[in-house]
Amino acid sequence: MTKNGKIRVSLAGLGTVGRGVVRLLEREAPRYRERFGIDLELEMILDRSYRKKDTSWIASEVRFTDSLDEFLAAPSDLVVELIGGVDPADQIIRSALGARKSVVTANKALMALYGTDYLNLAAEADSYLGFEASVAGGIPIIQVINHSLSSDQVLGVRGILNGTCNFILSAMASGQTEYKDALAEAQSLGYAESDPTLDVSGGDARDKLAILSTLCFHAAIDPEKIPTKGIEEVNAVDFVYAERIDSTIKLLGVATARDDQLCLRVGPFLVDNSLLLSRIAGVLNAVEVMGATVGPVLLSGSGAGEGPTAVSVLADVLRAAQQGKGAASTLLSSGETAFRIGDLDFVMGGEKEETYPFYLRFFVKDRPGIIATLTRILAQRKINIDLVLQESWSDRSNFPFVITVEPTRFSSMQEAVEEMKTLDFNCLDPLVLPILKE
Ligand SMILES: NC(=O)c1ccc[n+]([C@@H]2O[C@H](COP(=O)([O-])OP(=O)(O)OC[C@H]3O[C@@H](n4cnc5c(N)ncnc54)[C@H](OP(=O)(O)O)[C@@H]3O)[C@@H](O)[C@H]2O)c1
Repeated sequence: MTKNGKIRVSLAGLGTVGRGVVRLLEREAPRYRERFGIDLELEMILDRSYRKKDTSWIASEVRFTDSLDEFLAAPSDLVVELIGGVDPADQIIRSALGARKSVVTANKALMALYGTDYLNLAAEADSYLGFEASVAGGIPIIQVINHSLSSDQVLGVRGILNGTCNFILSAMASGQTEYKDALAEAQSLGYAESDPTLDVSGGDARDKLAILSTLCFHAAIDPEKIPTKGIEEVNAVDFVYAERIDSTIKLLGVATARDDQLCLRVGPFLVDNSLLLSRIAGVLNAVEVMGATVGPVLLSGSGAGEGPTAVSVLADVLRAAQQGKGAASTLLSSGETAFRIGDLDFVMGGEKEETYPFYLRFFVKDRPGIIATLTRILAQRKINIDLVLQESWSDRSNFPFVITVEPTRFSSMQEAVEEMKTLDFNCLDPLVLPILKE
């Protein structure tokens, strides 16, 4: 697998993460050689627009190409895929594994779609497939789940999995600014794309939750089936009410296993300030794994960015190289079983559905009888009110108030809200947030 004891690495994509990987490798390669006896040699970089980029800082021995065919035919031991998207990233990964090369990728969308296929291909080829950077960038959560916590039974995993959403919600919480202003600030600082849809819709967090849950619960999970809500409907006033009940709002991915059933959900939650997750602010990510014996284990750090993501990518490269030396073959088998299709079912409703207390926020044209109407709808479904909160507000034609309810099944809450949406005093559809407490 190696040439003169060297491990030949080829890299697809010289974008944000690709540049970080080359920089870190150039800086740390001598240490990898001395400390671990691993001699990594960057052979080739594929990038469709490398001619337009400054590559003068990259060692002159590295060859560049914009031809996929040339890249696929290049002699290498290990392929790092960092171009993102589905095509040709999928082709690069399958072709490298087919040629019995090890592969490292940061591509969460592809891992959520085809992770099981890739791990099977890697097992057949006796190759290593690393995807640590695909979830929560610089946080080494996949290693922790696959190795450090493998001796315990995992009961649940939840986390702040999208830095863009966390930045926007944190900005709204601290300045009580509106969503669109917080999004504009995130875009001006480079934390949000010009088209932020994938992030703010919860789609990116959903793919990451699918990967994490697959690893934690050994179940094949189709990300499309995960109920997912974005943060677009969260309003500045929700943070005023959240503060009143000693909470804040976070976009969470939550997976809970109960009685061989798995409940998965992505969306904004009201998070009690006593929980550590409430304090993860700005672009930081956090993942909390609940072990049956160890209890909660929380890891927090940079979920994205050139340097932090490169650290995860190169950690996988080093593990792949160690496997070549016979030291890490167990990594493969644990990765392989992690994606095995298991016996857990999705719970989308019914008796075993998860229950939460809920926060309901209304904007209404104020008039007598509104609370009585809402109370009737809740009472018909045996949903108990916990609190009614009303801040003083000058505009009675667009008046916000909040009801919180005691633990209720998601589907019952949704049913009640569907009926509430039809009421003519609403200025906006009611916002429903599950509440997370100790
Ligand atoms: N950015 C992060 O912090 C982060 C964190 C965790 C995971 N990831 C994942 O890491 C991967 C890379 O992300 P990134 O932020 O580095 O993306 P990026 O900045 O857009 O870099 C992608 C690079 O690949 C090139 N490229 C795209 N399609 C190509 C093709 N068909 N052939 C050849 N070159 C192509 C792009 O060229 P152009 O310059 O012409 O577009 C660009 O240089 C993605 O899967 C992403 O989800 C990123």
